Amino acid sequence: MNDLRATLTVELDRLREELFELLRIPSVSARSEHATDTRAAAEWVRDHMRRSGLESEILETGGHPVALGSWRGAGPDAPTLLIYGHYDVQPPEPLDLWSSPPFEPEIRDGRIYARGAADDKGQLFLHLAALDVILRTRGSLPVNVVVLAEGEEEIGSPNLLGFVQKYRERLGADAVVISDSAMFAPGQPSLLFSLRGLAYAEIRIRGARSDLHSGAYGGAVPNAATELARILATLHDAEGRVAIPGFYDAVVDWGTETRDGIASLPFSDEEFREGVGSPRLAGESGYSTLERLWIRPTCEVNGLLSGYTGEGAKTVLPAEAMAKVSCRLVPDQDPDRTIELLRSHVAAVASPGVVAEVVELHGGHPWRARLAGPFFEAARAALRDAFDVEPVLTGEGGSIPIVGEFERELGAPAILLGFALPGANMHAPDEWFPEAHLELGIETIMNFMQRAGQR
Ligand code: BES
Ligand code: ZN
Repeated sequence: MNDLRATLTVELDRLREELFELLRIPSVSARSEHATDTRAAAEWVRDHMRRSGLESEILETGGHPVALGSWRGAGPDAPTLLIYGHYDVQPPEPLDLWSSPPFEPEIRDGRIYARGAADDKGQLFLHLAALDVILRTRGSLPVNVVVLAEGEEEIGSPNLLGFVQKYRERLGADAVVISDSAMFAPGQPSLLFSLRGLAYAEIRIRGARSDLHSGAYGGAVPNAATELARILATLHDAEGRVAIPGFYDAVVDWGTETRDGIASLPFSDEEFREGVGSPRLAGESGYSTLERLWIRPTCEVNGLLSGYTGEGAKTVLPAEAMAKVSCRLVPDQDPDRTIELLRSHVAAVASPGVVAEVVELHGGHPWRARLAGPFFEAARAALRDAFDVEPVLTGEGGSIPIVGEFERELGAPAILLGFALPGANMHAPDEWFPEAHLELGIETIMNFMQRAGQR
């Protein structure tokens, strides 16, 4: 490792500059006006892998492309790692809440600020950089490697499962390695034991043919906004439990070992509450905050649209109302089944005076790690070496839709080692990644590859 660390020290400034180049590309997958930028980020990743000595190309998916790289010089007896990350980012809005422009990376107080710094360009880049440093130093890698960088993760990876099925042969690996999450706390590395899944839908309510005068018609004609509010109010009971019939049927019990492990982590509700700035915390009764975030499912309203929302008053009876609703899922809940349950529930509670429709947007399965095996142990040891602290096992409330599919399609375990920190503002203004984790992350990944190769 010493030779690799020495190269890393020499190359770090160049690598940081390269990451900044990638961060400057506004690859917002959700916005069609950024399609060219999104492709440019894929090409940037391809070119970087090429310069490091990997074979790499852009492959079409029907949506934003995949940048696929590979290096197979370790031979058929060495293990193969599939490194997955995403080069697309969330929209940066609201722009006025950023302290510096989202696509002009800037270092302040030891943090790299930019959209994608943590999610996920900064973390994808750790792997690209680790490959670059090892190949530059030694001319070969200790393992065979396939890198799959996708550009649609932030819109639900709609084309990736098809892509994985189509290129299954080329993606074959002994383990899938992903850095797209956070450590438990500063100085405290973690390995993920779970990710929640997602079922995302729109509830659309339609009343009269058009908006009406609220005086001339109000009281006699159903109000779409009021009807929607009533439906949304039925999604939870007084205990904070999701009240959609059947919602919990497939939820598996995690058992005391997981719950005890979670309880043993140093976590302060009060600090967490202060961090988010809300007057109180809320959630399903009977569970701690970390349990609510990691091992319990939710149903959340993500957006609302109806009636007049401009300046001043307009007396109007809305004919239409729409809510974006997403459920975070835990094993063994199924996204499609969850949407069906939501649909039946909405149909059952909607008043006959309106037409209520549930339209599925996208989804992803929850994932639970196998907490054993040579690659898991290699990751644990690599984190311990780099951070000088034993990693803890943590869950994750967010979702990475393809992780479960990778395991199913490729038969290889996924290892999730994240290097962002809590409060990294993923999807929010002032997203950041700790500057020191550029070096520590690259070091961890190089160490992991070494260990995986010695298996
Ligand atoms: N990197 C995140 C997942 C994540 C979030 C990990 C927070 C750790 C902490 C990922 O890019 C993401 O945001 N996923 C989306 C998936 C969705 C669009 C299908 C999510 O969780 O909302
Ligand atoms: Zn991400």
